[in-house]
Amino acid sequence: MLIVANWKAYVDSAARAKALVTNAKRLAARSRHTFVLAPSSPHLGLFPKAGKRNLQFAAQDVSEKSGGAATGEVPASLLRELGVGYVILGHSERRALGETDAVIALKAKQAFAAGLIPILCVGERVRDADARYLKELRDELVVVLDALSPKERAKVIIAYEPIWAIGKSARDAITPADLKEMVLYIRKILAQHMPVRIASKLRIIYGGSVESGDARELAKDGGVDGFLVGHASVDAKMFNALVKELS
Ligand code: PGA
Repeated sequence: MLIVANWKAYVDSAARAKALVTNAKRLAARSRHTFVLAPSSPHLGLFPKAGKRNLQFAAQDVSEKSGGAATGEVPASLLRELGVGYVILGHSERRALGETDAVIALKAKQAFAAGLIPILCVGERVRDADARYLKELRDELVVVLDALSPKERAKVIIAYEPIWAIGKSARDAITPADLKEMVLYIRKILAQHMPVRIASKLRIIYGGSVESGDARELAKDGGVDGFLVGHASVDAKMFNALVKELS
């Protein structure tokens, strides 16, 4: 499985970041899973070229521009130079700051141009009785997929993250049955944008209150290829317990 650790802005010191990386190295060394750690960008600089085999690094965002007059932005090429392999795009916490699907599509293009693999976050705000949430999800996917070349589409990773399930605890996460349904729905949309044999292999991961208490069931019956883990990834004890449930 692919286990992406989204540290958000939880990790407040270099010492803590280093300890978490050391812990993840230990986990990766004796695991068949692939771990992708996503620290804040200044902390990415602490681990230049550290990504190896099944332990890789991701940025939490990237600039929609390739460089130049873009104060405060981090261009994809700089991340790549540090050995970063992935970038989380369209996280709901960034969308809440005004990031649109069109901007996310530009960021995905920049990521691919520099050799980074985007982990595209999509997910509904609420589940309404009229199933409008399905259209919300479709729109988020389609804008980005339409902007990508067939080769790029075949590499993107989809992180399904229903906003109502983020930042809570295991009992508030989605049920395995509902997750399975959403994964099928996402695959259906993917299959409309690429050959079915590619759509059926694209990695779809789930994020939203994944902890040791729900990870095993979600992995077993949710039909996902991995997880995007937030709060449980910045506490080594919680993260180790979660990974243990997946082995
Ligand atoms: P959470 O965050 O695991 O704390 O719910 C997941 C995410 O927002 O990526």
